[in-house]
Amino acid sequence: MAKRILSGIKPSGDLNIGGYVGALRQFVMYQNEYDGFFFIPDLHAITVPQDPKELRERSRQIAALYIAAGCDPDKSTIFLQSQVPAHAELGWLMETQAYFGEMSRMTQFKDKSEGKDAVSTALFTYPALMAADILLYQATHVPVGEDQKQHLELTRDIANRFNNRFGQTFTVPEPVIQEVGARVMGLDDPSSKMSKSNPNTSSYVLLLDTPAVIRKKFSRAVTDSDMAVRYDWEAKPAVSNLMEIYSVFGDVTIAEVERRFEGQGYGAFKKELAEVVIAKLAPLQEKYEALIGSDELDRILKEGARKASEEAHKTLDAAKRAMGLLVY
Ligand code: AMP
Ligand code: TRP
Repeated sequence: MAKRILSGIKPSGDLNIGGYVGALRQFVMYQNEYDGFFFIPDLHAITVPQDPKELRERSRQIAALYIAAGCDPDKSTIFLQSQVPAHAELGWLMETQAYFGEMSRMTQFKDKSEGKDAVSTALFTYPALMAADILLYQATHVPVGEDQKQHLELTRDIANRFNNRFGQTFTVPEPVIQEVGARVMGLDDPSSKMSKSNPNTSSYVLLLDTPAVIRKKFSRAVTDSDMAVRYDWEAKPAVSNLMEIYSVFGDVTIAEVERRFEGQGYGAFKKELAEVVIAKLAPLQEKYEALIGSDELDRILKEGARKASEEAHKTLDAAKRAMGLLVY
């Protein structure tokens, strides 16, 4: 069977380096070897309130960042989820197969709903739509950060359940989670994930931050008690997190980072870390600027949606037929 990779990043905020390290860089890593489907899950973004104008802008922004980071529209299919109605339709079918009990165990829902009094039902059923996103394209591999592992497991359970009940319809996908960078932590607190929803803007670095801002944020990053640049998540979580970022952006192993900064303090390390990140982001930011105002971007997304719809419809029809719905 052909290897097919699929993933998406929600347009619900500015993209930070956590999403790049955990997800986006993997899209680019695998696109030559796999048939790639990279989409913008805008229907997932609206499970929490969004400003319509901002949502529109962010959706194009995320698409431009995919391409600027190296996703090639000639090799991969890049599209907006809401432009392929089969997602919402299979999403409903998946809701009929997912159990309330298993949905209730999803930690992302618990985290996102905690302490809020107005929580949409879509935030709760979110993983069923995510299962549809993946299963529609018979994806074999799904590159994500650690926080999406539980949703992937649920997708696998639903796919197996459906196949057992109605006959072989869906490919059961494998999550692809990198060892280094699966969970980038906040620069202000190594016990919480780097997240664009953190009100402290110094806790994350955005892909579109300027060099001056990146330098400032890394210089403020918290470190651990002794002065050694040593990789040890138990004793030194803040420095270990920064070392992982260095390793990914500098294309060097963790052992090499340790060697390079042996006998040097945190100051020198954080300074060079900022430069390594700035150097990697510079060409990406340049490509982004060229793309964001262009019609080319909209043309790519339109063509992507056309190709994706064609592919999605094959699976959607098969699933409907298998369940006993009439397809003419
Ligand atoms: P989101 O922006 O929540 O749609 O996340 C997009 C992708 O980036 C998902 O695959 C996440 O698992 C991944 N991701 C987001 N934040 C981080 C982080 N701090 N560390 C590693 N991966 C992340
Ligand atoms: N839930 C994912 C996140 O929060 C985004 C997403 C939606 C996704 N559908 C997907 C990721 C399908 C991979 C595959 O990051």
